[in-house]
Amino acid sequence: MPAAPAKGRGSFITFEGIDGSGKSTQARLLADALTAQGHDVVLTREPGGSPGAEEIRALVLQGNPDRWSPETEILLFTAARRDHLEKRVWPALDAGKVVISDRFADSTRLYQGVSRGDLRDLVDQLHALMIGTEPDLTFVIDMDPAEGLARAKGRRTAEERFEDFGETLQRRMREGFLQIAAAHPERCIVIDGNRPAESVAAEVLAQARSRLPEPALGPGAAR
Ligand code: ADP
Ligand code: TYD
Repeated sequence: MPAAPAKGRGSFITFEGIDGSGKSTQARLLADALTAQGHDVVLTREPGGSPGAEEIRALVLQGNPDRWSPETEILLFTAARRDHLEKRVWPALDAGKVVISDRFADSTRLYQGVSRGDLRDLVDQLHALMIGTEPDLTFVIDMDPAEGLARAKGRRTAEERFEDFGETLQRRMREGFLQIAAAHPERCIVIDGNRPAESVAAEVLAQARSRLPEPALGPGAAR
């Protein structure tokens, strides 16, 4: 059974969306804005976010697209997430912090649950068994896949196992993210990513502030 923190302590915010939709940019801008407003913020990402999970990140994102079977890949992403939660996310939530993660379980539900076969049940079962935690708030950055891919390709790295899958996969992922958002309106907000980054950030911040508890007043907190 997952050892999740006591409910009600800290806030867990995730960013989801296709490659190049602006998740990393928006996660950073939100972290900066909330920090300036006095929140104690931890900015992190998946796959990765803890030393062990970063090692698994290299295994899953680099190399041949056929390197892992779909089932093995689900286990690797789940193992990385479990380590990230144990070492970084749960302790921060227990300490009352705001945790902002660039991707989380919705990415596994789609990339591993849909892209290489109908494995969503397996993903959901492993999530229930080993993860258990859901975000308090998920921003789904919606974006035209061609535009997202062009942006993502603009910053070529070795981490291209998934980006190599191309625009058809990105279209399916976009639809999938919108379906998850529609199924979970209690935590998901769809944000139009086809705008200048500052406009997107302003809407994200307004939504986050309306949902977050006020920060505890601390020295240096700009309010
Ligand atoms: P993701 O994390 O979703 O892959 P990034 O935040 O890394 O997306 O953004 C991908 C690329 O697009 C980066 O080069 C970034 O500077 C650029 N970018 C991010 N947001 C915008 C935006 N709103 N308009 C134009 N370019 C953007
Ligand atoms: P990321 O570094 O967020 O890529 P990007 O900035 O291009 O959006 O994530 C790397 C890749 O990992 C991305 O193509 C999606 C994939 N991924 C999964 O397949 N499953 C997962 O559970 C996660 C978290 C990411």
